[in-house]
Amino acid sequence: MQIENLVTDEIAQKSAWEALEKSILYYRGRPIGTVAAYDNSVEALNYDQCFIRDFVSSALIFLAKGRTDIVRNFLEVTLKLQPKERQLDAYKPGRGLIPASFKVIVENGEEYLEADFGEHAIARVTPVDSCLWWIILLRAYVVATKDFSIAYQPEFQNGIRLIMEICLANRFDMYPTLLVPDGACMIDRRMGIYGHPLEIQVLFYTALRAARELLVCQGNQDIVMAIDNRLPLLCGHIRQHYWIDINRLNAIYRFKSEEYGKAAVNLFNIYVDSIPYYELDKWLPRKGGYLAGNVGPSQLDTRFFALGNLMAIISDLATEEQSQAIMTLIDERWDDLVGDMPMKICFPAIEDEEYRIVTGCDPKNIPWSYHNAGSWPVLMWMLTAAAVKTNRTSLAKKAIAIAEARIAEDEWPEYYDGKKGRLIGKQARKYQTWTIAGFLLAKELVTDASHLPLVSFDKLPPELVSRACEFEIGSVDPFSS
Ligand code: GLC
Repeated sequence: MQIENLVTDEIAQKSAWEALEKSILYYRGRPIGTVAAYDNSVEALNYDQCFIRDFVSSALIFLAKGRTDIVRNFLEVTLKLQPKERQLDAYKPGRGLIPASFKVIVENGEEYLEADFGEHAIARVTPVDSCLWWIILLRAYVVATKDFSIAYQPEFQNGIRLIMEICLANRFDMYPTLLVPDGACMIDRRMGIYGHPLEIQVLFYTALRAARELLVCQGNQDIVMAIDNRLPLLCGHIRQHYWIDINRLNAIYRFKSEEYGKAAVNLFNIYVDSIPYYELDKWLPRKGGYLAGNVGPSQLDTRFFALGNLMAIISDLATEEQSQAIMTLIDERWDDLVGDMPMKICFPAIEDEEYRIVTGCDPKNIPWSYHNAGSWPVLMWMLTAAAVKTNRTSLAKKAIAIAEARIAEDEWPEYYDGKKGRLIGKQARKYQTWTIAGFLLAKELVTDASHLPLVSFDKLPPELVSRACEFEIGSVDPFSS
């Protein structure tokens, strides 16, 4: 039995590396990224492009294996694609944005890069997560190479600054979270995640932490101070208002509504009838808990979203207790959240009339499919990183073993459908790069925990918040504190 497992393991890894190599995108002779999928059997659409969020999985496994050049090239070319001037045309991408994806085009025998900021995407969705992932990846590169010089270059400092400027700009609302339209992240279709979706908030927090480590103060004091002000508020807000466990559910169940003024307990005026209490009462394990999908005016989205919850553990946004509770929930509700393929993008699916209203009758997001509670193998690396961080490695091993038994044979699908994830996604690409890279990365993280710091953060140091502007270029290594 063991020998059989070893063989499957080796075959899967070999096939994964071969497919990952094939997905590498070259520009003027240099590797600069990976295409989303290398599947000749279907029309490419935009899957022949390099997506920023998809490349993160490839980049991390390349970094773990010492192949830092492709990541550096990617960071350099994408930085060049970032608009640097104020935009007068409201249909053009604003200053500081990082595109959703880009591709190499050839004109008159010369190669050029063409970026898509969402203007070519289905439904013209805004990729808010791209600029956040970009900073997170830049910091991962610095951690891997221990070479701060790339981030300290004036172009990179300016790039980080411009991203921070959009994120920290004056705005209408008064929450520390980021207000975004629907489909602004991995779920890039209408799925009722407009407002303050967890995924964006967690990536925002992680990007702020990364930017805080990478920005040198000279000339950036205002931004550094703004980050220091925002971080603790954002962290407290998510930990308090997004958290759901049985105690919290009890409190919400007895909430009064229509409270006016500062003493209001039910801050967001959540109407008790909007919460699926009896489902949650049955589903929530005694000790487990999770961060809600979205919080806003009279809105508490109680769906479990995997990326936000896992990244909250990895980035230390969740408290230690919360992190353990999230892993307990995954363990206790394994059949629902992991099932036969790690792991559900969200749970449960929205169905019937709610599905029709919330998704706009999207045929790709029918219940238990694609973004609407489909299973996405890329999430395996985040599950593994979270498991390693919380010392629950056995959960990661169990998940990887499930995937390993079939994923190579299934030809690395983009996603799976069904309540247990047994069906290869109806419209799933094969040889989806982040499925492949996510699998390899999960294997790497579970066998060598020393790679975890590429993406993980420690506790928010109290002195960091008050210690704005202490260091200047080269004078202090911000990672040593
Ligand atoms: C789909 C996914 C998105 C991904 C893209 C390329 O649109 O929803 O998250 O970046 O495919 O793989």
